[in-house]
Amino acid sequence: MDHPHYRTARLVEVQPETADTSSYEFILEDGQDLRFSPGQFNMLGLPGAGEAALSFSSLSAPGSSRFVHTIRRAGNVTGLIEELQPGQRLMVRGPFGNGWPIEQAVGCDILLVAGGIGLAPIRPLLLHCLEKRNRIRNLVLIFGARTPGEMIFQQDLATWQEQDEVTTIYCVDRLSGESSLPLRQGLVTHFMEGLGLDLRNTVACICGPEIMMRFVARNLMLQGYREERIFVSMERRMRCGTAHCGHCQIGSKFVCQDGPVFSYPDIQRFADTVL
Ligand SMILES: Cc1cc2nc3c(=O)[nH]c(=O)nc-3n(C[C@H](O)[C@H](O)[C@H](O)COP(=O)(O)OP(=O)(O)OC[C@H]3O[C@@H](n4cnc5c(N)ncnc54)[C@H](O)[C@@H]3O)c2cc1C
Ligand code: FES
Repeated sequence: MDHPHYRTARLVEVQPETADTSSYEFILEDGQDLRFSPGQFNMLGLPGAGEAALSFSSLSAPGSSRFVHTIRRAGNVTGLIEELQPGQRLMVRGPFGNGWPIEQAVGCDILLVAGGIGLAPIRPLLLHCLEKRNRIRNLVLIFGARTPGEMIFQQDLATWQEQDEVTTIYCVDRLSGESSLPLRQGLVTHFMEGLGLDLRNTVACICGPEIMMRFVARNLMLQGYREERIFVSMERRMRCGTAHCGHCQIGSKFVCQDGPVFSYPDIQRFADTVL
C-alpha cells in the first residue's frame, strides 16, 4: 500500500559509493513491514528543506522495515541527507510508482541498460532476476559511467561479473584511473549488438539520462527488439507523489503514479521528453 503520509525513518548505515554518491540504509521507526517493488521510489524529506524522490536501490525483504537509497548529491535535500549521521532521522512517504514490469519478464530474455546513477533502480531488478533466475532466460547487464571512479556498486559489479547467471558489460567514456573491473571504453550503445538475445522475446529495462535512454531505445528498435517490450524509468521534479499537484506530468501521464517506468511507445509521443 502507498503511504502518502509522513513516517519517520532512522539512518542505520552509510556506504560511500563515489565522490558524490552514497548508499544509505534506513529503518522505519514504526517498525512496520515495508514492501516495495524494484523501480518504485520514496519521497524523503527534511524539515525546512523539502522532499526528493529517490528510488529504492535494495530489494524488499518481507517482514523488514529496512530499505536502502543510493543518492547522488544534487542540491538542498540530497545535500542535507549527505550530512546525516547514523541514528538521525528523516521523513519518508512511499512507496510510490509502478516499478519495473517483473511479471511481463517471466519466460523472456532480460536486457538491463543503466547509465550512472541509473543503476540504483536497476540494482533491485537485477537482484530480483538473480533470485528468481529459473523464471527468466538470458540475463544481460550493460552499465556505463563517465569514468571508472563514477561507477557505483563496485562490489556488486565485481560479484555479478563472476556469476554465470548474468552476462555483464561495463563501459566508461574515459578510461582514466585504476579499476579492478574489466572495463571497455565507449558509450553503452557501442556494446548492444551480438548479445545473443531473442530479439522478439526480450524485455529491455533502461535507466539513465533521458538522452541516453533515447539512443539505447532507438538502437534496440533498429536491431529488431519489440518497442512495447522496451521500458524506461523517467525522472521529473516531484511534489505530491500522488498524482494531485501536476508537477511531474508528461502529457496525460503522471510520472509519480503512472510511472516512473513506462513502455517506450507510451512515453515517446509526448513532446516534453527527448525520447
Ligand atoms: C522517480 C525518481 C527516482 C529518483 N531516484 C533517484 C535515486 O535513486 N538517486 C538519486 O540520487 N536521485 C534520484 N532521483 C533524482 C532526485 O530526485 C533529485 O536529484 C533530487 O530531487 C534533488 O533534490 P535536491 O533538493 O537535493 O536538489 P534541488 O536543490 O531541488 O536541485 C538541485 C539541482 O538539480 C535539479 N533537479 C532536481 N531534481 C531534478 C529532477 N528530478 N530532474 C531534473 N533536475 C532536477 C534542480 O533543477 C537544480 O538544478 C530520482 C528522481 C525521480 C523523479
Ligand atoms: S508529483 Fe504531484 S502529480 Fe506527480
